[in-house]
Amino acid sequence: MTRTPIIAGNWKMHMTLEDAKDLVLGIHHTLKFPGNVDVVVAPPFTALTTVVAVLKESYIDVAAQNLHEKDQGAYTGEISGNFIKNTGANYVIIGHSERRQYFHETNEQIGEKITAALRNDLIPILCVGETLEQRTANEHFAVTQKQITEALKDFSEIELEKMVIAYEPVWAIGTGEVATVEQIDEIHKHIRTVLGEMFSGSFADKVRIQYGGSVKPSNAKDILSLEHVDGALVGGAALKAMDFIEIIKAAV
Ligand code: 13P
Repeated sequence: MTRTPIIAGNWKMHMTLEDAKDLVLGIHHTLKFPGNVDVVVAPPFTALTTVVAVLKESYIDVAAQNLHEKDQGAYTGEISGNFIKNTGANYVIIGHSERRQYFHETNEQIGEKITAALRNDLIPILCVGETLEQRTANEHFAVTQKQITEALKDFSEIELEKMVIAYEPVWAIGTGEVATVEQIDEIHKHIRTVLGEMFSGSFADKVRIQYGGSVKPSNAKDILSLEHVDGALVGGAALKAMDFIEIIKAAV
């Protein structure tokens, strides 16, 4: 099964409008023809409309970093899926470990957010991954399995056709510490097995599974050449055009 790799940059809470414009123009102008790879950037909500406008004629898609479960209502400070769709973005990151950790998102709530994304025709990038404590206790297989089965239990494989999964071990995020290729390989295989058990083998074969956690130009090739790694969700290195471009090139 050949899966088109997908490289996404999660900008987190970085980038003013000016910085956002410079970054995406830098990527687009420097790398005009990326080849067979999907490229996505996930700016903060405030820059979505601007980034979509700047990238209108480009190969780069735009994602939001989160969404609320409801489409509208008295939820001060929240952003809904239909607002995101309205900006022209077409992906949304759901269940990032920082949302689970600091905003106490549960697997159930993450499932509701996936429903909201699909209702608004947004492609979900579902993040899973264990903490250092869970890895040390050898619970990483069980934890990722639970995150996936609980979040996806109410969906059919047709509904999840375009979904992307990002495996991001919490201990490797923003720490400079990268999971070894053996660790990445075994857990990506495990995730595909879990999907195969929940849905069908052909579905599991089609779903793209990204790795995230201190991906940078120097380690991208080794990680992206693993059979079950279909791209990367990049944090820090996605804030620098040249680094992000090197990672995109490593995927092709
Ligand atoms: P870093 O690449 O900075 O480790 O962040 C990874 C991440 O959390 C992407 O969502």
